[in-house]
Amino acid sequence: MNNIIDLKNKDKAASSHTKKETLLEVINLKTHYPIKGGFFRRTISHVKAVDNVSFSVKKGETLGLVGESGCGKSTAGRTILKLLNPTAGKIMFDGEDITNLRGSKLRQRRKDFQMVFQDPYASLNPMQMVGDIITEPIHNYYPKKKSREIKQEVLELLNRVGLPDDAYYKYAHEFSGGQRQRIGIARALALKPKLIIADEPVSALDVSVQSQVLNLLNELQDDFDLTYLFIAHDLSVVKHMSDRIGIMYLGHIVEIADKHSIYKEPLHPYTQALISAVPEPDPKRKKQRIVLQGDVPSPENPPSGCPFHTRCPMAVDKCSTITPELKEVKPGHHAACILVD
Ligand SMILES: Nc1ncnc2c1ncn2[C@@H]1O[C@H](COP(=O)(O)OP(=O)(O)OP(=O)(O)O)[C@@H](O)[C@H]1O
Ligand SMILES: [Mg+2]
Repeated sequence: MNNIIDLKNKDKAASSHTKKETLLEVINLKTHYPIKGGFFRRTISHVKAVDNVSFSVKKGETLGLVGESGCGKSTAGRTILKLLNPTAGKIMFDGEDITNLRGSKLRQRRKDFQMVFQDPYASLNPMQMVGDIITEPIHNYYPKKKSREIKQEVLELLNRVGLPDDAYYKYAHEFSGGQRQRIGIARALALKPKLIIADEPVSALDVSVQSQVLNLLNELQDDFDLTYLFIAHDLSVVKHMSDRIGIMYLGHIVEIADKHSIYKEPLHPYTQALISAVPEPDPKRKKQRIVLQGDVPSPENPPSGCPFHTRCPMAVDKCSTITPELKEVKPGHHAACILVD
C-alpha cells in the first residue's frame, strides 16, 4: 500500500490538534445491543459493542479508528451519526449536544454529517439512476431549489469524484466497485457536510483501485473543508489517511495519539502487536512479530479488569481486576494500560 499511494502530505502533526476547534466530541459513549431470549423475548443480556469510548476530532482533521472485526468500530460510527441510540454517554457536534436530538432538529443536523459505507454494492440501489441517487438528498433538504440548479450541482459533484456527465443517466449496477464508491462519495457530499464517517470505504474494493479512492477522499477533504472519522481494520490504510489514530479493542479505545507516535512508539501491548503485524518493506528494519494467543472474547461477556488481559503477553495479576483508564501518558498520547506510565 505504501508504495502505490501518492497522497498529499498528511503530516499535520499532533501539535496542530490542540490549536484547532473541536468538531466532534464523544464522551463516555456506550452502545449496548439488547439480546432477546426465552418465550417472552425478554432482554436476557447485552452485547457491549461500544463501552465507554471518549475521543474528539478537530475541524479539518482525520481521526483513524482501527481494530479487529467486531471491536465496535461501525457501531461507534453509526451511534455518532445517530443511526443508533447510545445506551449512555454524550455526543457533542459543532458545539451542540446531539445525544438526544430527535425529529426535525435531528433532521436539520443530519445534513452536516454523512457516512460513506463499506460496501458500495449494498449501499446503493442498483436500479436507481445515478442522477436520482445524488439528487434525492438535495431535493429532500431543499425542496424549493430549481431542478435545473440541482442537476447542475449533481453534474459538478459527479465530475468532482471523477465520473463523466453521462454517469448521471446510468444505473448504479452498470458501474464497477470503485466507480460505485465514487457515486457513494458524491451522494455523501451532496449536502456539503462538515463530517464524513467513512466506514472501511475501500475494503470491499480491488487493491488496484483502493489507492485511487483514498486519494480522492484526501483531495476532497481540502476542497470541501471536511473532517473525517476514518474506520478501518488495516493499519496501513489508516496510516496514510489519518492525522491521529485511535486503536479499539472489544468496545474500548485502548490507545489514541498522532499517527507518528502510534507507529514509532506504541505504548499499549495491543497496539504493539498490531504494529508488529504491519509488513515492513525495508528488510533492514525488520521487526519481531508479536503473535497474540487466543480469540477476542465475546462482547456479550467481556473479561473483568482490562478487556485485553486475556490475550496480553505482558499481563500481570492485577490486570484481571483493575479496569485501566485511558490516560494521557505523554502530551496528546493516551493509553489505557496500568503498566504504562
Ligand atoms: N444489531 C446488532 N445486534 C446485536 N449485536 C450486534 C449488532 N450489530 C453488531 N453487533 C455486535 O456488536 C459487536 C461490534 O460490531 P461492529 O459491527 O460495530 O464491529 P466492527 O468493529 O465494525 O466489525 P467489522 O470490522 O467486522 O466491521 C460485534 O460483536 C457484533 O457482533
Ligand atoms: Mg464494521
